Amino acid sequence: MKRIDITAYGVPEEVAHCVDMPDVGEPRPGEVVFDMLAFPINPADISFCRGSYRLRPPLPATPGAEGVGRVTAVGAGVVNVKPGDLVINMQRENWAQRRRVKAEDAVPIPPGLDLVQAAMLRINPPTALLLLDDHVALKPGDWVIQNVSNSAVGRHVIVLAKARGLRTINVVRRDDVAGELRDLGADVVLKDGPDLAERARAATGGAPIKLGIDAVSGEACKRIGDCVAEGGVVVSYGSMSGQDPVMSRTAVNMRGVNLTGFNLGRGLAKRTREQVRAIYADLALKIRGGVLKAPIDAFYPIDEIRQALVRAQQGGRHGKVLVLPNGALQ
Ligand SMILES: NC(=O)c1ccc[n+]([C@@H]2O[C@H](COP(=O)([O-])OP(=O)(O)OC[C@H]3O[C@@H](n4cnc5c(N)ncnc54)[C@H](OP(=O)(O)O)[C@@H]3O)[C@@H](O)[C@H]2O)c1
Repeated sequence: MKRIDITAYGVPEEVAHCVDMPDVGEPRPGEVVFDMLAFPINPADISFCRGSYRLRPPLPATPGAEGVGRVTAVGAGVVNVKPGDLVINMQRENWAQRRRVKAEDAVPIPPGLDLVQAAMLRINPPTALLLLDDHVALKPGDWVIQNVSNSAVGRHVIVLAKARGLRTINVVRRDDVAGELRDLGADVVLKDGPDLAERARAATGGAPIKLGIDAVSGEACKRIGDCVAEGGVVVSYGSMSGQDPVMSRTAVNMRGVNLTGFNLGRGLAKRTREQVRAIYADLALKIRGGVLKAPIDAFYPIDEIRQALVRAQQGGRHGKVLVLPNGALQ
């Protein structure tokens, strides 16, 4: 069985290796074994390899926060899934051809889902949903501003916000994605820059922006904060710049804008197991219906993890880089 191990924390394509491992073996009681069919390379996986992610396990370590698998065997007492079912795994270490996990962590997904999109169900769709749900009360017509709008999360935010009648200003770092984002439902697309607040104000006609969503951090977070109205909230949920979030004194002191942070694990932990399952069931239906979709840049086999990691870190991609550990999807 092949698995990706990192042997040091450092440059992802230098520290990640595809290694041969003994098979995971038969499932014990209460366990499930599944073949991993596809996994994406997310920004958090890149940070994990670099050692800058919040989790920094002893080495060697296997990255991989998500993916989609097909169950091959279940242990005694397992009733929630059966061989042949498609599952997402709620635990990590998914960059491998096969996994053996507790049955409660293998969440079955409805049939008919595009496998590629299913591989990206666990993290980004619920992140987009909870970013809109958990921070400020929003009603139809309200304005929201976000950066990294061309990311998978950003695209899901556009679609979910539009469905609620919210209006979005979508900040990007390149102009060529504006048309696609408008087609998804973006009301306004603006290229980031020092005069962002003036351009955002012009775009809303002075209407207040209640929620700012930031995943670039550093000065880009400050620019989002400067767009948000009195009493509004800025949610920091990522740091594509590698910097810590910054806010201006004008935003914090004069307008009482609050900076808060979001992490999916914390967001889900506030909910019951039933609520979490309901969230995933609903998001799975939205994916099956083609409502939520992340574009794909490229696929790689597992033994080309080095090339996949290089590509995943290049700017100007058109979507996600995915790895197919067990060959082409059927
Ligand atoms: N807190 C949480 O629980 C949580 C959960 C999920 C995701 N996230 C975070 O959400 C963000 C988006 O994740 P994703 O998987 O949706 O990303 P993705 O689809 O891989 O896209 C990455 C995006 O980041 C942009 N980008 C890269 N470097 C940048 C920089 N230096 N300045 C500005 N923009 C930059 C890219 O812009 P171009 O399109 O122009 O290349 C692209 O739109 C990441 O920061 C991730 O860590 C957080």
